[in-house]
Amino acid sequence: MPKSVKDIINKKKTGQKISVITSYDYSLALLCDKAGIDILLVGDSAGMVILGYENTIPVTMDQMCIFTEAVSRARKNSLVVADMPFMSYQASVSDAIRNAGRLIKAGADAVKLEGGTPVTQTIRAIVETGIPVMGHIGFQPQTTTLSEGYKVQGKTLESAKRLIEEAKALEEAGAFSIAVEMVSHEVAKIITESISIPTIGIGSGPYCDGQVLVIHDVLGMYDKIKPKFAKQYLSLSDQITTAIESYRKDVETEKFPTKENYFSMDKSEFEKLKKEIGY
Ligand code: KIV
Repeated sequence: MPKSVKDIINKKKTGQKISVITSYDYSLALLCDKAGIDILLVGDSAGMVILGYENTIPVTMDQMCIFTEAVSRARKNSLVVADMPFMSYQASVSDAIRNAGRLIKAGADAVKLEGGTPVTQTIRAIVETGIPVMGHIGFQPQTTTLSEGYKVQGKTLESAKRLIEEAKALEEAGAFSIAVEMVSHEVAKIITESISIPTIGIGSGPYCDGQVLVIHDVLGMYDKIKPKFAKQYLSLSDQITTAIESYRKDVETEKFPTKENYFSMDKSEFEKLKKEIGY
């Protein structure tokens, strides 16, 4: 049985940390699930690390549905949360409900959307249709990238107070958890202690109820941006490049393929063939 939203909330209640990692494809999702990760987040960061966009703005619902289908086919135990991409929930509440529904039909257990107080009505409406929602406050890539660039949030009194209010408003609206991105650790701690639903931090320090990282940062597979908050556990870019270079050289020097890598005809059939075609 995959984990449920209730299981995730219970982790906070019982003081257990929640592990979250982004997933976009079947093969890596299989491994994340096998590794015991609590939540596979089909993040719209896919737009950058999978599709090569500069930011998450161009990501579409069709693309998110394809990633979500692939990840949900792979998972056995983890909860699958899918990001609602830019402009899939901002124009109207009915748009938001319809698009959240598409992600659920694609296999997600819950959706995530960015924003504080302005999206509470939308979150409430989605939750009322029976779809669990994860909120997302602090740095919000879909909007802040355009207006302010990458910037830590909650560094001033005003910003700290706003974030704490936003977190409370999201809980009130029915969100089951909140991603807290690039918020000063002091404010992330106060938020975590002020609400009963789990906070999932990314670059927001150790006091959040859980942590999320982009899988490409964890595996060292995306060198374009190296956020200070990400911990790299492998250097796959280097290892993959070395492996592919070896393959290229083997092809060029005819070291590949060898007998183990190809197939043969039955000897007598081959003799007959040669005779027949005069080979
Ligand atoms: O899209 C994403 O990967 C995210 C996480 C960074 C929280 O939203």
